[in-house]
Amino acid sequence: MGEEISNKQVILNNIVKTSVKESDMSLRTSKIQLKIPSGCDGAVLVKNLYLSIDPFIINRMRPLEGYYIASYTLDSPISGYGVSKVLDSTHPNFKTGELVWGFTGWEEYSLIKDPILLFKAPDKDLPLSYYTGILGMPGMTAYAGFFEVCSPKKGETVYVSSASGAIGQLVGQFAKTAGCYVVGSAGSKEKSAVALMKVDLLKNKFGFDEAFNYKEEQDYNVALKRYFPDGIDIYFDNVGGKMLEAVLSNMRLHGRVALCGMISQYSLEQHEGIHNLFNHLITKRIRMEGFFVSNYYDLYPKFLEMVVPLIKEEKITYIEDIAEGIESAPRALVGLYSGRNVGKQVVVVARE
Ligand SMILES: NC(=O)c1ccc[n+]([C@@H]2O[C@H](COP(=O)([O-])OP(=O)(O)OC[C@H]3O[C@@H](n4cnc5c(N)ncnc54)[C@H](OP(=O)(O)O)[C@@H]3O)[C@@H](O)[C@H]2O)c1
Repeated sequence: MGEEISNKQVILNNIVKTSVKESDMSLRTSKIQLKIPSGCDGAVLVKNLYLSIDPFIINRMRPLEGYYIASYTLDSPISGYGVSKVLDSTHPNFKTGELVWGFTGWEEYSLIKDPILLFKAPDKDLPLSYYTGILGMPGMTAYAGFFEVCSPKKGETVYVSSASGAIGQLVGQFAKTAGCYVVGSAGSKEKSAVALMKVDLLKNKFGFDEAFNYKEEQDYNVALKRYFPDGIDIYFDNVGGKMLEAVLSNMRLHGRVALCGMISQYSLEQHEGIHNLFNHLITKRIRMEGFFVSNYYDLYPKFLEMVVPLIKEEKITYIEDIAEGIESAPRALVGLYSGRNVGKQVVVVARE
């Protein structure tokens, strides 16, 4: 029997039908043994260090038909990506003391009985929190979505929505390394410092050629024509909805659209539709493809080979929005759906 200690957890209180509120989650303290119970083979017991706060979490807070991953159970800890330290292991691939990233719980310690989505976090020279972002799932999503789904060519025009976020900031920088012209959009409800900061970051920190605050635009079609007078070759879609519809009417012949996510739809009970697909997709022979990062993890070593030198040579940069303490996780999650985060939203549970 190992030492029994207290374990703070963030649990789901109720099914979330539309937008998520902080009161849909609560903090609870339970107990956990710091040793894997006997007979529990192939498991790891971890101390969670960083939680990755991701938009898909809301989709698991309700029953969603056809969704690729199970909904959360009420009164149980929320789960998602994180960075953790292995305290005990009965799994042949993981040793005590190792640092890992992948699926874990929103709690201080987790017993992961079936660690199918757990990777080693080998690079000690880079910030450990990067495994929630540029070196983890969002990095792989940007890489797979841009290079594998969109097949970019030098000189092509690229548009990225939610461009200052965890994934968008990387897609824009990858597009520049591929020799493309890239425009990003980001926004905030009012003309706040945050909104200015996001658009400014896109142009002056991440090297986008142009950037705009989509919340200040009356007509997305007009905005897109301003930045893409000759049309868009590649659209990396993080938001869906009206923006996707406007982009489709501005695509060039043989353009590619990577459907990464649709955050503008996640809090709506009735999802918006896209009109006029005949004119947009058929006549211009556009390829529009949805993808999941989980189908591309076999490329993770190849991705690291590309991205780690780019970070170390300061050819690529990464912005994180760090919230301190597991107590801050509900607020951090709610903030994603109104654009409160600037860069990758991370919650620090412990610093080793
Ligand atoms: N396909 C996959 O495998 C995969 C994997 C991970 C994530 N995703 C998806 O990728 C997208 C980006 O994820 P991320 O982790 O990089 O998130 P993120 O961009 O870091 O954070 C979410 C951002 O979405 C924007 N947003 C919120 N509500 C919006 C609305 N109604 N309309 C337009 N924009 C809105 C906000 O930025 P603004 O200030 O710009 O509004 C907010 O900061 C999400 O749709 C997510 O579900 C897909």
